[in-house]
Amino acid sequence: MDIRIFKNEAEIGQAVGKLFCDFVNEKPDCVLGLATGATPVPTYNFIADQYAAGKVSFKDVSTFNLDEYCDLPKEHKNSYYSFMFENLFSKLDINADNVNFLDGNTTDPEAESARYAEAIAAKGGIDIQLLGIGRNGHIAFNEPADEFTGESFKIALTQSTIDANSIYFDDIPMPRYAMTMGIGSIMKARKIVLIATGASKAEAVKGMIKGEVTPQLPASILQQHQDAVIFLDEAAASLL
Ligand code: GLP
Repeated sequence: MDIRIFKNEAEIGQAVGKLFCDFVNEKPDCVLGLATGATPVPTYNFIADQYAAGKVSFKDVSTFNLDEYCDLPKEHKNSYYSFMFENLFSKLDINADNVNFLDGNTTDPEAESARYAEAIAAKGGIDIQLLGIGRNGHIAFNEPADEFTGESFKIALTQSTIDANSIYFDDIPMPRYAMTMGIGSIMKARKIVLIATGASKAEAVKGMIKGEVTPQLPASILQQHQDAVIFLDEAAASLL
């Protein structure tokens, strides 16, 4: 693991945003794996600013998002689909046909998982996968479990995740299930970039980097990835 510590989330947004823009300029038809949550927002802002300044184009880029809530209309303001358009895609020249999400409203999660795996493979696999981390060490919606997961699947969210994310749901109760890429699909990305900011992530960060590799702390699997870069602010790195 390549660990990089920065002063604050603004500096991380610049560094990770630059890494993505440089990569897109090198490989204009690249495939990006993207994440939601508060953590990547400074990165997405930096990327949008670079695009507005004419320094990068996303017209041939394809994206695959990590996860989506179940039983929530795609157009609801809290869907990850809405989040990505609001925070990034609407600010870029990306082709909407190249933007991919798991369908959280599928009635057949297994078929949906197979469809997503095939769509990723058809594009040649994910070049760079962006990740955040949950307070319990989850990545995407891979919650602590007895075994590492494989391809995409439907998961019941844990109370820790419901507590952390329900602040965003002011009109309806937060969904209890999600469709998520599994650990196996995430680990296939050629490069992984994980960002963790804030003291609430310090315990999970310590386990991810210094603890044993265990499905009880799903992010710990990144110790076994050949090109995982971890961007931390000082608060998230405070227990290392
Ligand atoms: C959610 C998402 C994850 C994200 C995590 C942390 O549960 N499914 O992809 O990394 O929360 O979110 P935040 O960045 O808001 O702390």
